Amino acid sequence: MISRLILVPALFLSIFSCDQETAQVHELSSPDGQNKIKFELTNNSPRYSVSRGETEIITPSEMGFVLKDNDTLGNNFEITGVEETSKDETWEQVWGEKAEIRNHYNELLVNLQEKSGKQRKLQVQFRAFDDGIAFRYIFPEQGIKDSIFIMDELTTFNLKDDGKTWWIPAYHEQRYENLYEASPVSTLDTVHTPLTIESDSGLALSFHEANLTDFASMTLFPTSGTELKADLVPWSDGVKVRTTGSFTTPWRTLQIAKEPKDLITSYLILNLNEPNKIEDSSWIEPYKYIGIWWGMHIGKYTFWEGPDHGASTKNAKEHIDYARQLGIDNLLIEGWNKGWTPQWYENHMHQFNFTKSTDDFDLESVTEYGAKNGVRLVGYHETGSNIDNYLKQVDSAFALYNKVGVRSVKIGHVGSMLNMKEWHHGQYGVNYFRYILKKAAEYNLTVYFHEPIKDTGERRTYPNMMAREGGRGIEYNAWSEGNPPSHTAILPFTRFLAGPMDFTAGILDVENKQGYPGRRVHSTSAKQLALLVVVFSPVQMLADLPENYVGKPEFKFLKDVPVNWQDTEVLNGSIGEYITIVRKDIDSDDWYLGSLSNEEARDLEIALDFLDADATYEAEIYADAEGTGMKNNPTKVEISTKKVTSKDKLTLELGESGGAAIRFRKL
Ligand code: NOJ
Repeated sequence: MISRLILVPALFLSIFSCDQETAQVHELSSPDGQNKIKFELTNNSPRYSVSRGETEIITPSEMGFVLKDNDTLGNNFEITGVEETSKDETWEQVWGEKAEIRNHYNELLVNLQEKSGKQRKLQVQFRAFDDGIAFRYIFPEQGIKDSIFIMDELTTFNLKDDGKTWWIPAYHEQRYENLYEASPVSTLDTVHTPLTIESDSGLALSFHEANLTDFASMTLFPTSGTELKADLVPWSDGVKVRTTGSFTTPWRTLQIAKEPKDLITSYLILNLNEPNKIEDSSWIEPYKYIGIWWGMHIGKYTFWEGPDHGASTKNAKEHIDYARQLGIDNLLIEGWNKGWTPQWYENHMHQFNFTKSTDDFDLESVTEYGAKNGVRLVGYHETGSNIDNYLKQVDSAFALYNKVGVRSVKIGHVGSMLNMKEWHHGQYGVNYFRYILKKAAEYNLTVYFHEPIKDTGERRTYPNMMAREGGRGIEYNAWSEGNPPSHTAILPFTRFLAGPMDFTAGILDVENKQGYPGRRVHSTSAKQLALLVVVFSPVQMLADLPENYVGKPEFKFLKDVPVNWQDTEVLNGSIGEYITIVRKDIDSDDWYLGSLSNEEARDLEIALDFLDADATYEAEIYADAEGTGMKNNPTKVEISTKKVTSKDKLTLELGESGGAAIRFRKL
């Protein structure tokens, strides 16, 4: 663990006060002096604004809370003190898209107290980074005995300029699994974060939150003009957050970049989470896996017992043989336990059993056969959102996985509401997901959630939190109209700003010859290879039926591509149109490139100056064959090799919804 920490007196703060009774102003700048936060108390109410250079981004905006009985905490304050600090440290990720991360910021902590009445204290902690700003509220312990009920958070984000926002709706039965829409700030629905905005000021912005712990998640809605307001997701009784004694909110974050592509390499969200709390993380390992999974989604197998049950001992052993043949050492098997019915996806308190196998599945025999063949089983729990049922069984279920050598578990939460009553993204859900994450750590299990709470960077604190869904993954192509070609050119600038996603790419049979008629993946096969680089996750599924990989030369890329990286650079990108990302392997000097396009074919010229200056590389190029596009010969991947150096340029010829994947092997 590297930690270079410098605490310096905060000379960067300019504090000046005007009329003591009406306004006091405190300013904070980022280390490079570009991003500025101004805090002021105007008529006893806290206000903040944000600018970058000469550009105003957020004009004076409200802060505070409404507690039970219409009790406002936000209009009767005086400043009782300010504290200024600064930090510059570099820390190491257990796994990630970049091995070492610099955490460099200036901080201002404002202490407020109500001037009369209950004389309650509230602190606002601001941080200014070179890649954005953040603040959070701390309601310190102050001898309050009664429960505290937060009914509303008053925070607003009064944007100076309108812009093009990329959004998904907040209160939707499919949770975060929606297609992104683009519209002006002023016409937004209530939306989830990350909310990415191409501002009319020319800047790229992204609103999100960091370290969402024991609180409701924040969604945003427009009030008037270009002002957005925080909206906390309620409990079923309307209360937003319930707590006792004290509370600390998640960080409200605004990442700021010159171009959208630069948002992708901002590590502000991770930096605002606490350091790793798992002392010995040696058991936490990134991995790739195949599964008895896509077969269920395309209707070849069933989740439930019957003649086509996917999770039979026989089929499982055949899949272990495939995994061994393909050189992939993890296998996910869904539907192995009792409780699955053909109606498993309907909103209902399903009674899954997490320790009893179906009659045709022998967990011990399958895991033993896997161990003999060097293939580990990835565990699977589908809760059906019946959380009460899951919580009763989770200890014995995790203990069973320990017993049979399973080290990682996928945990699903299909259903519109947890326990058919609470939002996945309210305080109940936030606390439930954190409980399971910590519980899994007790059993040395890594987890990835489907139908999760959104990612706010807790993988820094609990690196057994590998990935999650929280977006429309590949599965939608199996049984619905599917994801349009632009979807994968939007996600890196939106959903992926939050963190890793179990996107499940790597479908080579994009036309889905064995699946439901008319359902297909709207891409070329080369684009599916590219996604393994474009999409970051420390667990990556090679999602196609394993038989579709056998004998395919392009499978070599899927086998070679790492899931853990030393470094990441985004070479180009435009939201909804195209993107090219390069990543350096954590274990070698090799670089990997993934580039993809929306429905338009395009040529992209890229400079190879990210490669080591004094070296020659062999580029193994997997590209759309000439004339290939989503609708034309989509599965034809052309493989070629070429010697290159950092001085070279390459032109990537991407077909309609096409892509290119390259391994640069250092010679
Ligand atoms: C939805 C998940 O996203 C998918 O991966 C899983 O196969 C099904 N639920 C069944 O649990």
